[in-house]
Amino acid sequence: MIIKACLFDLDGVVVDTARFHYLAWKSLADRLGFDFTDKDNERLKGVSRMDSLNILLSIGKIHLSEQDKTSCAEEKNQLYLQYIQQMTNKDILPGVMEFILELKNTGIPVGIGSASKNTPTILERIGMTSLFDVVVDGSMITHAKPHPEVFSLGAEILHVNPENCVVFEDAIAGVQAAHNAGMKCIGVGSPATLREADMVIPGFQDLKLKDIVL
Ligand code: BG6
Ligand code: MG
Repeated sequence: MIIKACLFDLDGVVVDTARFHYLAWKSLADRLGFDFTDKDNERLKGVSRMDSLNILLSIGKIHLSEQDKTSCAEEKNQLYLQYIQQMTNKDILPGVMEFILELKNTGIPVGIGSASKNTPTILERIGMTSLFDVVVDGSMITHAKPHPEVFSLGAEILHVNPENCVVFEDAIAGVQAAHNAGMKCIGVGSPATLREADMVIPGFQDLKLKDIVL
């Protein structure tokens, strides 16, 4: 394929926020009186805030009114915000900055496609806001991953056809979103979890554009 744009998921691809999401959801689960494990957390990756809460509540077999759900989601987000306020550029995952700079030097535009409404805050904290040619986040979309909207919108803004876009994703729902958008997807993480991806890399360390064969 001819690569004309690369779209990156944020959480777990560019930056190591998955542990903060986990700690914040775990605090909420503790308060509600049930255990929430690291393994359970896999199901929440890439999933929107409210969908994540619904999965969490189903694990704890807890039923809440819509009003209580809204306040629980807000409680989790306040905890999460406390964690991300401490982030710096040291939280950028190894090699990702170098790889993005190689893409930019080659003239390939780069974008973010994230479910997170906290995307602008995180990009500011890690000093990467100006690096991306387009940023599509959770506040700009109506349909969560695996719906293709977050990536389709990014490609549309960049005026690039989906078949020329590569998505980098660490979540199963994100890989499916990329495919639903008609794009190729490189999984970042374990091949066992991300077997639907077109190629899987353990991370960006030492990755060069020439290593991507799709
Ligand atoms: C995704 C994360 O990127 O964003 C999910 O993988 C998270 O874990 C989702 O729930 C929504 O994030 P936020 O910051 O809007 O609550
Ligand atoms: Mg992710």
